[in-house]
Amino acid sequence: MKILHAAAEVFPLIKTGGLADVLGALPQALTEAGADVRLVLPGFPAILQGVENQKLVREIGAMFGAGKVALRLGRFPGSGIPVYVVDAPYLYRRPGNPYLAADGSEWADNAQRFALLGWVAAHLSAGELDEDWCPDVLHTHDWHAALACAYVAMHPVKSVTTVFTVHNLAYQGLFDEDDYHQLGLPSRLKTPVGLEFHGRTSFMKAGLTYADRVTTVSPTYAAEMATPVFGCGLEGLVRARGAAVSGILNGVDSAIWNPANDTEIAVGYSPAQPKGKQRCKAALQAALGLQADAKAPLFGIVSRLTSQKGLDLVLDALPTLLAEGAQLAVQGSGTPELEAAFVSAAAAHTGRVAVRLGYDEAFAHRMMAGCDVIMVPSRFEPCGLTQLYALRYGAVPLVRRVGGLADTVVDATEEALRHDTATGFMFGPATATALAGAITHATNTYAQPAMWHQLMQRGMAQHFSWGDAAKQYLSLYEAAMRDSASARQA
Ligand code: ADP
Ligand code: GLC
Repeated sequence: MKILHAAAEVFPLIKTGGLADVLGALPQALTEAGADVRLVLPGFPAILQGVENQKLVREIGAMFGAGKVALRLGRFPGSGIPVYVVDAPYLYRRPGNPYLAADGSEWADNAQRFALLGWVAAHLSAGELDEDWCPDVLHTHDWHAALACAYVAMHPVKSVTTVFTVHNLAYQGLFDEDDYHQLGLPSRLKTPVGLEFHGRTSFMKAGLTYADRVTTVSPTYAAEMATPVFGCGLEGLVRARGAAVSGILNGVDSAIWNPANDTEIAVGYSPAQPKGKQRCKAALQAALGLQADAKAPLFGIVSRLTSQKGLDLVLDALPTLLAEGAQLAVQGSGTPELEAAFVSAAAAHTGRVAVRLGYDEAFAHRMMAGCDVIMVPSRFEPCGLTQLYALRYGAVPLVRRVGGLADTVVDATEEALRHDTATGFMFGPATATALAGAITHATNTYAQPAMWHQLMQRGMAQHFSWGDAAKQYLSLYEAAMRDSASARQA
């Protein structure tokens, strides 16, 4: 089976969040499962530099105000997976964040930038850009690539099966009505049953409406997307797609996240030899200027600092955390308000609270290795990868019971502890009181070393594998292809 993945991020070349981790791992897992997989990516500077051995496939005329566009085929570094690079200098050769200008505002031409990605993905899938390769399945990720599903649906000969994965329903790719006319789509789609969303043009709707299958990254979030609380105004559309919507959990790339051979951390350790974790904790405390105290439970956060992640609750619950004798380490970047609030919390509690602003991949590994607890108190969380990495590193996750967090962590209730199935701590309502209750539960458990050891061991034994996810995607692709074939015959 031939599969083309279209996305805007891929680890390690360009990453703003978990989407990149997924694109860095899933194509390889699908390849290992026997599929013929390629990627199509926008030619951001990091992609142009990182993709090896690029050869011109086709010059495409001036599109979306891009001037000349060149489509090249190269190889992903390491895995060697073939990658189509859409080189549109005028649209993509900009430094920094793929979506935002240096001042934090969205690039004014994002509609054209990501329409081009979708257009190229759709026309590659129609066999019109590379006569040597054409996919059976086009798998698009998030709003950035979603418009491909509309271009495929509008193409006179629809042969490719489309899958759209929602990694985050809150980012929808909404543009002014005027932008619609630049997309090269028929005006009949400019209605609420097409791409219109409250007078604007929604790229997300292109995926949700026109993909043959819609997936998201956990079964619980798949159900949540159909509700007003989590549906971001699109719950009706999600419900209307019925059984075409499903959830497949993300995995952990164990070539990158494995404490036994992680070169970023102070000393390696494993479930059989967990002692090294203590040294990683001491190293982290020293690096962050926290008191060198092996007995103080060290709570950590590695996160985008946005309202999604519920970190304002941590600030409100901080008095409880400190009263319990714990320490807090935060690594993140995001809204100026949250950054400032964490910085002032650290200033007020030197030696007990430490904050590192910014994005630092290597330090994220040291956080996982050094912390006793990793908190993910999200308001919503499609899957969440940090709690999966935390489990692997024996940092017990403390999470809100929502989305993929609910699907991947087992709360340390008395019963779960008795049956040795517990892997972390959970709370329900998105309130500081509920979070504080879970923090107290964690510190009480930490004070009982045998029980803590059991929790850590059970967590480290969890296996969220990309191999399993790839198998599920492959059967979904097969089912979707069968349906497309029978629809064509009918
Ligand atoms: P999201 O994609 O919503 O941000 P995920 O949990 O799926 O959440 O993925 C977050 C990814 O980004 C993880 O790989 C995590 O380690 C990484 N990450 C988040 N913030 C930082 C940071 N400040 N420095 C380094 N890595 C970070
Ligand atoms: C999104 C979600 C996160 C998920 C990631 C990868 O960024 O916020 O929950 O893990 O995508 O699928």
